[in-house]
Amino acid sequence: MAHGGNDETVVRDVYFKDGQLPVNGIYPVGTIIVKHLKNSEGIVEERTAVVKRGNDFNAEGGDWEWFMLAPDGKIARDENGNAMRGANLMNGMCLQCHTAAKAKDYVFSK
Ligand code: HEC
Repeated sequence: MAHGGNDETVVRDVYFKDGQLPVNGIYPVGTIIVKHLKNSEGIVEERTAVVKRGNDFNAEGGDWEWFMLAPDGKIARDENGNAMRGANLMNGMCLQCHTAAKAKDYVFSK
């Protein structure tokens, strides 16, 4: 459903910085994963990312921080000008859905 998964015209690319793999099932602190999606006409575009913060940043959610990115790669801002990042981005919706992948450290891909 999320990220255009219910739309067959959408291309979804997931990038693991430096090809990082989990170590004993957990991604190391500093891991960055970016996901980009666009449709066949390049109209729908969305960039999301997660960064492994560690250090009890978000113990309930694997210490990941969630991000929405702007086309220039900077952190996107919502309509109120707030940076779209955090442990509970979008009222916890990111984490809530990714909890389905908890056994893989909240990461669906790979
Ligand atoms: C309704 C469920 C759902 C929600 C909500 C959701 N995701 Fe995802 N996300 C997925 C699925 C499923 C994948 C696996 C790749 C795919 O199928 O597109 C994924 C993949 C990703 C990836 C690539 C790494 C991985 O886990 O495979 C990132 C980064 C990501 N999501 C970030 C976010 C962010 C940031 C938010 C909130 C703004 C969010 N997601 C909300 C379901 C969700």
